[in-house]
Formats: sequence, structure tokens, C-alpha cells
Amino acid sequence: MPSQPLPATAVPAADDALWDTLRRIGAHFARPGAGPWQGLLADGSRLDVAPGGRWQASRRLPEPVVAWLELYLPLAAAAGSFVIAHLGQSLDGCIATASGDACFVTGPENLDHLHRLRALADAVLVGAGTVASDDPRLTVRRCRGTHPVRVVLDRHGRAPRQARVFTDGAAPTLWVRPAAAAPAPCVDSLDVPMAVGGDLDLRALRAALAARGLPRIFVEGGGVTVSAFLAQRALDRLHLTVAPVLIGAGRPGVVVPPAPQMADAWRLQGRVHRQGTDVLFDCLPP
Ligand SMILES: NC(=O)c1ccc[n+]([C@@H]2O[C@H](COP(=O)([O-])OP(=O)(O)OC[C@H]3O[C@@H](n4cnc5c(N)ncnc54)[C@H](OP(=O)(O)O)[C@@H]3O)[C@@H](O)[C@H]2O)c1
Repeated sequence: MPSQPLPATAVPAADDALWDTLRRIGAHFARPGAGPWQGLLADGSRLDVAPGGRWQASRRLPEPVVAWLELYLPLAAAAGSFVIAHLGQSLDGCIATASGDACFVTGPENLDHLHRLRALADAVLVGAGTVASDDPRLTVRRCRGTHPVRVVLDRHGRAPRQARVFTDGAAPTLWVRPAAAAPAPCVDSLDVPMAVGGDLDLRALRAALAARGLPRIFVEGGGVTVSAFLAQRALDRLHLTVAPVLIGAGRPGVVVPPAPQMADAWRLQGRVHRQGTDVLFDCLPP
């Protein structure tokens, strides 16, 4: 039987006016110590946004507008250091095939979402495995916005030197590799201490990036990196998007310590959004 797409409920469509408002809110809260933001939405409603992203509107807003505000204001209006991570995974929990192919696990609506998160973040961060497998550009191309600074965690220097983040000059890149020279002129290196167990101390990394004027960080993968942020309690928000696809065997997404009993498992709070045929879980990490 030929496969049919699952029926999709109404998705927040691309909304240029709302997106520009979110970008203005992001620019406002980029100023250290910024107070509340007030402004008008396209339908004339007044929107009040407090530092940290709590919001209130002068009248009831349509559900797609509420969904966008809930999804993007925590990052856009973050008061100080804020880290959000995203992974797109299959129904059977893989973020790529066993060979590392991740193009594409989720659909176009979710890719648009990733580009919006990049545009609202000061820095987009990936692990060395993602640079080696995908050679991503990590720039903003599917919506209006400014490219964030690109950050690569590369403890052992295994990310290829010819990778686009090191060579294309499209945006600055920070190469996190303790005590080593940067591989290219457009690349700066950052020295971060090790935590217990030989991993980079991701809380120290957050502080180091905030000190460089990059407090809003989007961790775009892969699974090892997002799991390390979770394990070190260095994550404020986790977006897991599940696509109706079965990969069979592949690269795992989030990996956490095994729970002996269901009562010990981490049950996360948050909201659920439909993106095309994908389902995005917007979770508060434990
Ligand atoms: N579907 C999606 O959403 C998505 C998103 C991104 C990537 N991907 C796919 O995921 C795969 C790559 O993911 P992955 O999980 O294998 O690797 P990864 O998370 O991209 O990179 C892991 C590496 O990053 C470095 N690293 C991360 N956290 C660290 C820490 N706290 N301390 C020190 N080093 C740290 C380490 O490098 P060293 O081991 O060299 O020290 C680690 O091995 C690729 O196949 C890619 O296509 C999928």
C-alpha cells in the first residue's frame, strides 16, 4: 500500500508581520537590563512582554499567534543567559540513519522553525559529530534575520578543517577546543574548563558565551551534545520534534541515565505543537 501523509491540523502559517514583531522584541531584549516591551500586533491588539518572555495581550489572540508567542518568546525575550535545544527524531527515536544521514528527518515546517530559532539566537551551537556528518552552514536562510555566531564543540579537533562553518566566512565561528589555535582567520577559539568526567563544563561555556555578548544560545544537535546539556543541567528549554517516520536503526537522540522504574523516569512538562505532519514537544527540562 503506498504510504499516505498523516492528516495535519492547522499549522501556524508563515506570518511575516508577527515574525517581524518577534524580531523587534528580540532586538529590544538583546540590550542588557532591558525593561518590558510594549507594542501593537497586526490586528491592533496591544502586546506586553516582560523580561523572560511572560506576555499579555489586550484581547484574545488567534491560536496560531499564541503558538508562535509561546514557542519563540522564551528565547527572544530571555533575560540573560538562556539555552534552548532542538532535535528532530523519528518515531523510533533516531535523529539520523546509522551512516549519519539526517537530510531530512522532519518536514519543511520544522526546518522553518529551526531557521527562526537561529535568527532569534545570539549563537547556534553544534557538536563535532554534526559538523563531520552534515557540514552545516548554520546560517539563517528560510526567514528574515541575522546569522548567529556559530559555535562548534570539538574537544579532540575532529571536525574537518574544510567544513563550511570554518571556511565560508558567512558568520563568525567560535571553535571550542581547549588551548588550541583556530583553524581559519574567520574562526576564534574559546577555552572552556572540563567538568567532572572529562566533558566540557557546559555551565562554564554558557557563562563564557554570555560574557562575549552571546547569552541566547540555540543548541542544534546532535544527540550527544543535547544529552550533555541535559545531563549537566545546562538547558532551559528542549524542543523535540517527532516525525512520522521509522528509521530502524540509527543515531540516537536524547540519551539519559536509565530509570529503574517508571516512577523514576523524567516526565517533562510543556506544550505540544503541530508542524505539518510532525509533532513538536516544547519541554521544560528537569
Ligand atoms: N535530526 C536532528 O535534529 C539532528 C541535528 C543535528 C545533527 N543530527 C545528526 O546527528 C549526528 C551527529 O550527532 P552525534 O550525537 O553523533 O554528535 P554531536 O552531538 O554532533 O557531536 C558530539 C561531539 O561533540 C563534542 N561534545 C559535545 N558535548 C561535549 C561536551 N560536553 N564536552 C566535550 N565535547 C563535547 C564531542 O566531540 P569529541 O568526541 O570529538 O570530543 C562529542 O563527541 C549526525 O548524523 C547528524 O546528521 C541530527
